[in-house]
Amino acid sequence: MPKVAVLRWGHRKRDERLTTHVALTARAFGAEGVYLSDVKDETVKKSVEKVVERWGGKFFFEMGKPWREIVKEWKNKGGIVVHLTAYGENIQTSDVLARIKSTGKDVLVIVGSQKVPAEFFSEKVSDFNVAIGNQPHSECSSLAVFLDRFFEGKELEREFENAKIKVVPQPRGKKVLKLKNLNQAL
Ligand SMILES: C[S@@+](CC[C@H](N)C(=O)[O-])C[C@H]1O[C@@H](n2cnc3c(N)ncnc32)[C@H](O)[C@@H]1O
Repeated sequence: MPKVAVLRWGHRKRDERLTTHVALTARAFGAEGVYLSDVKDETVKKSVEKVVERWGGKFFFEMGKPWREIVKEWKNKGGIVVHLTAYGENIQTSDVLARIKSTGKDVLVIVGSQKVPAEFFSEKVSDFNVAIGNQPHSECSSLAVFLDRFFEGKELEREFENAKIKVVPQPRGKKVLKLKNLNQAL
């Protein structure tokens, strides 16, 4: 299965919570990690790493690199770039997802925040401009839907290795296994 990573562009200090949620969405829906481009935000990094430490799995959070460099390196390694935008090809009414999958290549998904540079739409940057419907919503919702369709829902049954905490699904209430019990259970 091709790997997917996310490039979060346009983070401002006031976006801390949203950028953290972009990273948590990426992790929960099967991406390998997030590049927070152009800026550094230690608060977001710490929050994400805390979740990874408790809830397990491998997930990277890299920050500060210019977006052009991230895209260039990704493409040099043979990957493709998918820009999520309300103005792109509609994932439901077009065959864009099939065309993305048919490349068989690793995918870097770009999500914005404020208005993104026009260059993001160009062939030089994005191999595909994909809309999760053509109405504006959010970077988290668009990322979740894209990843879920890309991985066909299978990411939701994934086990996260070395977890210290694990949910035992219940029709009601909360049940979790903590580290000690987890070790005993495995
Ligand atoms: C809150 S939107 C900001 C949109 C911004 N006003 C603009 O015109 O580009 C933030 C990000 O969410 C994602 N997004 C929002 N709606 C989307 C949609 N319908 N399809 C795909 N991505 C979407 C895009 O990545 C966008 O950059």
